[in-house]
Parts: sequence; C-alpha cells; structure tokens
Amino acid sequence: MDRLRIAIVGVGFMGQFHAQCLAGVDAATLSAVVETDEARGRETAARYGARYFADVESVLATDAADAFIVVLPDTLHEDVTCTLLRAGKPVLLEKPMAHTLATARTMAAAEQEGGGRLLVAQILRFDPRYVQAAEAVRAGRIGEPIHASSGRFTVRDIGTRMNGTSSVRFYLGVHDIDALQWISGAEVTRVYARAVRKLMPSLGIVSEDAIFATCEMNNGAAGQLYFGWTLPSDIPTGIWARTEVIGSKGVIDLDVRDHGLRVLANGAWSLPDGLHWPTVNGRIMGDLYEEQRHFVEAVRSRRPFVISVTEAMRAVAVNDAIWCSVESGVSETVPDWRT
Ligand SMILES: NC(=O)c1ccc[n+]([C@@H]2O[C@H](COP(=O)([O-])OP(=O)(O)OC[C@H]3O[C@@H](n4cnc5c(N)ncnc54)[C@H](O)[C@@H]3O)[C@@H](O)[C@H]2O)c1
Repeated sequence: MDRLRIAIVGVGFMGQFHAQCLAGVDAATLSAVVETDEARGRETAARYGARYFADVESVLATDAADAFIVVLPDTLHEDVTCTLLRAGKPVLLEKPMAHTLATARTMAAAEQEGGGRLLVAQILRFDPRYVQAAEAVRAGRIGEPIHASSGRFTVRDIGTRMNGTSSVRFYLGVHDIDALQWISGAEVTRVYARAVRKLMPSLGIVSEDAIFATCEMNNGAAGQLYFGWTLPSDIPTGIWARTEVIGSKGVIDLDVRDHGLRVLANGAWSLPDGLHWPTVNGRIMGDLYEEQRHFVEAVRSRRPFVISVTEAMRAVAVNDAIWCSVESGVSETVPDWRT
C-alpha cells in the first residue's frame, strides 16, 4: 500500500515536533503543511519536501493529503477539525479535544456526519509507564483503588508564551484528567476546584498559575488533580509529573520527573527527555512516535484507535466542571458526556 499522505495543520512549537517525527514514520509521508504564518509554513514545508497551504480547504480541494494532524492552539481546534471530519478525513488532533463539552459534542457529531475518524492525541496513552500502570490496576494487582492523584507542573515560560490564550486545564490538565480516570478505572463525577493567580498576573499575563481539584469518583474512591505553569525557568526538568493510585492490596507510584539520564554542565543539572519525544540517531522516538505510528497503522488497516472519541469527551467534561467550580467556589457535578 502507498504511504499515507499527511498534512500537518499548525507548525508552531508542537507542530515542529510532529513534522520531524513524521519524517521517521515509514508508512507515512508529510505531503502538506497548513500554517497561517506563511514564512514559517513555507520554510517547514520546504524542509520536508511538502507543499505549503494557507488553509485546509485548499488541501481538500487539491486532494493533497489522505489524513491530517491538527496542532492548532487549544481554543482553535473546533472549526478546522469539523471541516476535515465532515470531509471524511482521518484526523489526529492534539489534546485537548475541545475547550468546552459543547464544542466536543459538535466535533463528535461531525465525525458521525462525514465518516472521518478522530484520534485525540492523549499522548500518555502511548507512554509505556502510564500504559503499564493502567494495566497493573486493570489486572487487579493493587486490589480496589481507594484514592488516586495525578498532576503536572511545567516551567512558567510556557504560561508566559501562551500569554492568556490557553489555560493550565487545557495545556496541562487534560493529560492528568484522562490519566486519573483511565489508570484508576473510575470516573470523576464531582469536583471542587480552586485556582491560584499570583505569578502570571505579576508578569502581566491574564491566566491562572495553577489549579487544584478534589474529585469524587464513581467507585467511591477519592481523586486529586493538580496542574500549573509555575516552575522556575532553571529547574532541571520541564515536566514535573506524578501519578499515584493507592489500592486495597498495593500501590502505583509513577514519577516522570527523571528519565534516568542526568547531565551536570556549567554547574547545573539537567534531566533530558528520554521518553516523550527524544531524538535518537536523528529520528524522534518515544511516545510521540508511537502515537503517530498507531494513527497511521489504524487508518491504513481500518482498526479502532486506542482512545475513543467518547473517552476523550469524558476528560473535556471534567474540565468543564473544574472551571465551573473555580468560578462558583462550590463543588460541581461533571456533566453527562455520553449524551
Ligand atoms: N502532547 C503534548 O504533550 C503537547 C505539548 C505541547 C502542545 N500540545 C498541544 O499542541 C497544540 C499546539 O500547541 P503549540 O504550543 O504548538 O502552539 P503554538 O502557538 O506554538 O503553535 C500553533 C501554530 O498554529 C498556527 N495557526 C494558528 N491558527 C491557524 C490556522 N487557522 N491555520 C493554520 N495554522 C494556524 C500558528 O501560527 C502557530 O504556528 C495545542 O493544542 C497544545 O495543547 C501538546
């Protein structure tokens, strides 16, 4: 079978990693780059021998791609993804699926209408540490989960780069909202969430610094979520993430602050990424590669994706409840994401 021709929509920070990674996926080729910043889009397209387009409609009109990877800013996912799904195209969409549950519903309907297929890029679903944690719980190795927590902090530079255009709940939180429910095997039904706003406002940025949420789970367990862009710029690791599940017979303790390599240089330690998208012999490997490889193989073989659209909507629904609780100051019920 011919290589799957893929267009990447948005080649900013994360889109550049997607483009570089795709160059190492044997069954696919980067055929088109769609980017509103024309200079950036043309430069990236030229680097990979792809065509440049200013919008996805032009890619569809010229049949320049079989499938799409959408890497647009968090609140711009809806229109482009719906256009592609209605055109019947497979889409790998960067997380979060959507910034509201209502938006996610529109996207799910577009998938049904057009026959396109949507894989939401919940990258931890391709991380061997998180996958093994979920499998250990599923196999009953720690007994019945009693309480669980999942969270991540990143450097404040991400918050200043976002400059009020996103939220810690979209850029960071949706990873842990999915991980908490997927790994513990339970659903968040109610949340009480508080936001901290000290650092970002002091830097002139209209954004929360961090969000903390206490969760009721549908199996009677207690859950905790936390995420923020508060770490100092010179911290040795960019992602400071933990996930823990305490069960009746055992414990899951996932600590991804350190990937096993420590480099001391110029008097400071760094802990380089060894798992998310490390470059190995000139190719991007790790979770991102596995995510793209899965997308390409599942599209070519018409097999199901590892995460369904309904499951991705579950994380969006919890995010809605978290924001309602931040604003109302009281606990809020997670809206029904199945209907
Ligand atoms: N999986 C992960 O770990 C991870 C990490 C970082 C970012 N992300 C996600 O990736 C997405 C992109 O984040 P980012 O940090 O790369 O953002 P970014 O702002 O750096 O890049 C977005 C790009 O999209 C372009 N763009 C904007 N509107 C466009 C349009 N209508 N058509 C074409 N191009 C358009 C911008 O010019 C920019 O180049 C977000 O959804 C984010 O949550 C995921």
